[in-house]
Amino acid sequence: MKSLVTGGAGFIGSNLVDALVARGDQVKVLDNLATGKRANLEQAIAGGAELVEQSLTDRAAVDQLIASFKPETIFHLGAQIDVRRSVEDPAFDSQVNIGGTINLLESARKHDVARFVFSSTGGAIYGEAPADQIPTPETFVPAPEAPYGQAKYAAEGYMWLNQRLYGQSVVALRYGNVYGPRQDPLGEAGVIAIFCGKLIQGERPTVFGDGTQTRDYIYVDDVVAANLAAAEASVTGPINIGTGRETSVLELIDSLKPHAKADFTPVFEPARLGELPRSALDVARAHEELGWNAQVDLLEGMETTLEATIAAGI
Ligand SMILES: NC(=O)c1ccc[n+]([C@@H]2O[C@H](COP(=O)([O-])OP(=O)(O)OC[C@H]3O[C@@H](n4cnc5c(N)ncnc54)[C@H](O)[C@@H]3O)[C@@H](O)[C@H]2O)c1
Repeated sequence: MKSLVTGGAGFIGSNLVDALVARGDQVKVLDNLATGKRANLEQAIAGGAELVEQSLTDRAAVDQLIASFKPETIFHLGAQIDVRRSVEDPAFDSQVNIGGTINLLESARKHDVARFVFSSTGGAIYGEAPADQIPTPETFVPAPEAPYGQAKYAAEGYMWLNQRLYGQSVVALRYGNVYGPRQDPLGEAGVIAIFCGKLIQGERPTVFGDGTQTRDYIYVDDVVAANLAAAEASVTGPINIGTGRETSVLELIDSLKPHAKADFTPVFEPARLGELPRSALDVARAHEELGWNAQVDLLEGMETTLEATIAAGI
């Protein structure tokens, strides 16, 4: 199988590339290394994967790559993922997250790519759901709270449009909060990676608000498995990928505490504006349509992430 992975030098993308190389796929990665790292692909490149350092926003380069490589599947993970940057510069965010997706979709259609699997977001698309809609199903009408989520929602809309107009085979996976090895603890995203980094450095974790805010944390290997299942299936529309369970920030800290060698009690800071109080995804559709279920328990996943962070020397 020939697979194109956009954003394949990033956290989730590089884990997916490793899985594709391991099963014998011919893999090309389209990534401009905005946040991704060549080092994430070291093992995959040794196994035959190729990194094409181009931007999704370069329509001619995208088209040329798809025309010459002729992948059977495109896994589209490349994105501007910084929610705060999306607020400061929504036009830039839309160029990458909407414009880049349209470039890929159009070339995929022109060059008969059989399947298009998009990495969307469950955490940032639905907005604040009422208590009786948590865990939130795909039928809940999204009301994103930042341009990042709005751009993902708009990009999904172009996918459904192409599906209706041309019968293009497309699916959008709406992830919860993905965590695991290679997530950048130096960045802003990914509270588990940040807490692992703090723990290793012997520092106390910072909690914004009272720490009762909940998220649906999903381990990266489970997200990779969902991508592989979605590529094989013919289902269309959005599919939530999470555990269906809420975990609070304080619960995360309690689970990591036994591994701490220094004081790991939280330092509380004022709540951040616009942060959702609760979030979890209803994952019945993923089970029914993809035969997929999360396999990795949060405690086990956090321990693996902590070990990987230590091994990476961060
Ligand atoms: N991490 C999460 O919790 C989470 C949750 C929901 C959705 N997602 C989605 O999953 C995907 C992967 O996210 P991640 O967490 O691995 O982040 P990441 O930043 O590690 O990966 C994104 C990749 O896209 C690349 N990229 C950015 N702009 C590009 C451009 N113009 N052209 C080509 N490549 C470009 C980056 O260099 C990077 O390698 C994204 O689409 C993100 O929106 C992630």
